[in-house]
Amino acid sequence: MSDDLLASAEWVRVEATLSLSADAQSARGQYFTPERAAALIAAMPSVPDVNPIRVLDPGAGSGMLTAAIIERLVTAAPGRRVEVTAIEVDPTLIAALRRTAELCEQWARRHSAEVSITVINGDIITLSTGLEARLDTDFDIVIMNPPYKKLGANSPERRALASLGWDATNLYTACDVLYKEYGLIAHRRVSPGGGRE
Ligand SMILES: C[S@@+](CC[C@H](N)C(=O)[O-])C[C@H]1O[C@@H](n2cnc3c(N)ncnc32)[C@H](O)[C@@H]1O
Repeated sequence: MSDDLLASAEWVRVEATLSLSADAQSARGQYFTPERAAALIAAMPSVPDVNPIRVLDPGAGSGMLTAAIIERLVTAAPGRRVEVTAIEVDPTLIAALRRTAELCEQWARRHSAEVSITVINGDIITLSTGLEARLDTDFDIVIMNPPYKKLGANSPERRALASLGWDATNLYTACDVLYKEYGLIAHRRVSPGGGRE
């Protein structure tokens, strides 16, 4: 078995992409991040001085960003536990996401690293807001490539955001609102000394 986690995850990404219909792909903005771009994105956040390091991948697709951030954190912070929550709305992608999660866990075991990945089939906006909110929002890193998808004026996402007094016309700004403006992004919850507030 190859020890190159991102190369293995890339195979899953390509297979998952080939399984999509062009219409669904465009309607849901299902354009997955290729291996090299995923590595580049995962290199961007600074590594928080906490243990475990908790990561959210909202709109995870086949799980490329999950794989990339795990590889980065295990390499940069050996000995620390990494917990990833990967959320994907499209049920047809969950098998691919679980496959990538398995590859990550196998890779972590070979590197004597403690990694756990929770895959959730659900909508990131309604899981974080409104009446359906049931997501633990205490994350240290949010790694995401949300789709550039318009949100209808009466969509559940817009209504869930409105319940918090926020609005966003597309999913990209909605995630931005949730994870930057509304304060769900966890680096705000990490005190300057490192521990969680
Ligand atoms: C641009 S793709 C990126 C996928 C993956 N993060 C990557 O970088 O390869 C966006 C993903 O978000 C999913 N998605 C769209 N709306 C969502 C929502 N409201 N909640 C959760 N996932 C969503 C899509 O099905 C798609 O798989």
